[in-house]
Amino acid sequence: MPVILGIESSCDETSAAICIDGQMLSNIIANQTIHEAYGGVVPELASRVHQVNIIPAVQQAILLAKVNKNEIDAVAFTRGPGLLGSLLVGVTFAKAFALAKDIPIIEINHMQAHVLAHFIGDNKPEFPFLCLTVSGGHTQIVLVKDHFDMEIIGQTQDDAAGEALDKTSKVLGLPYPGGPLIDKFARQGDPDRFKFPEPQIPGYNFSFSGLKTSILYFIRDNEKINPNFIQENIADICASVEKRVVTILLNKLKKAALDHGIKTIALAGGVSANTGLRQGIQQLADEQGWKSFIPAFQYCTDNAAMIAIAGYYKYLKGEFTGQDVAPLARMPF
Ligand code: KG4
Ligand code: ZN
Repeated sequence: MPVILGIESSCDETSAAICIDGQMLSNIIANQTIHEAYGGVVPELASRVHQVNIIPAVQQAILLAKVNKNEIDAVAFTRGPGLLGSLLVGVTFAKAFALAKDIPIIEINHMQAHVLAHFIGDNKPEFPFLCLTVSGGHTQIVLVKDHFDMEIIGQTQDDAAGEALDKTSKVLGLPYPGGPLIDKFARQGDPDRFKFPEPQIPGYNFSFSGLKTSILYFIRDNEKINPNFIQENIADICASVEKRVVTILLNKLKKAALDHGIKTIALAGGVSANTGLRQGIQQLADEQGWKSFIPAFQYCTDNAAMIAIAGYYKYLKGEFTGQDVAPLARMPF
């Protein structure tokens, strides 16, 4: 019955979780609101706030799980990819805690952990499955053959899907991060009111920079005619942008699943919190007679529960990491 402490600090969420024998007992997430004023994550500030939040987050995770810190068998931590200064806080905490308790550490790839969030709880997908991982920094279609046997078969050639939503929201004058706000407005709007282009990219790859530019020009041109264009049409703009992003993502996922003969599709990453995308993947699965998996809301955006569950599977395999480990801003699978 291994007790795993999971630590996540790759971007702007400081998170700690406790998992016992694969069951998640706590998942504390400290959000950093300081970046709102800057319209994006400021790496130096993120790292400083992680330093303030890391110990309280771990203390709360331990308290909520009702375990004794001496019962923890291993510390799993995000080694990368992410912001170096942010990763460094989590990596250093994990190493120091493990050294003090004389327990092993387990390095985790953040993008693999997003996929492994599907293994928290009882409703687990069967291998092989295709996972569409969409976050503020990544857009990937991952062929998942086993817990740690994953292959990226498609990815974005420029901006990530979340980045496209966040940049659109900036143009609309909404605060960062804009994804959740676009989701909120989109629920009240008409998704067919405005048409945005679908890029023609070969294979299973994506491109969002053209869409971003077309949204920018569309807003600018309409504001020239009507200075109140955004205020008067915000719900329809958000609904139409969201619809285009969702169709770009799901058309590629559908193509990849059909070509590979795979009948299980899944979502992961922060953008999988999006209502339109969640409904869309379910609809696609229903139409095709496939199974679809969407993580619980709290396991979609960055969280330590996904790090703890990934750590649990590595613990079972006896895959531990040396104390000389350093974080990686880029980290292939
Ligand atoms: O995985 P994540 O928490 O952090 C990264 O590793 O990037 O993803 C954050 C991204 C942001 O772009 C944010 O705007 C987006 O997820 N996001 C959403 C929603 N909630 C978060 N996008 C659309 N709809 C949402 N409900
Ligand atoms: Zn993430």
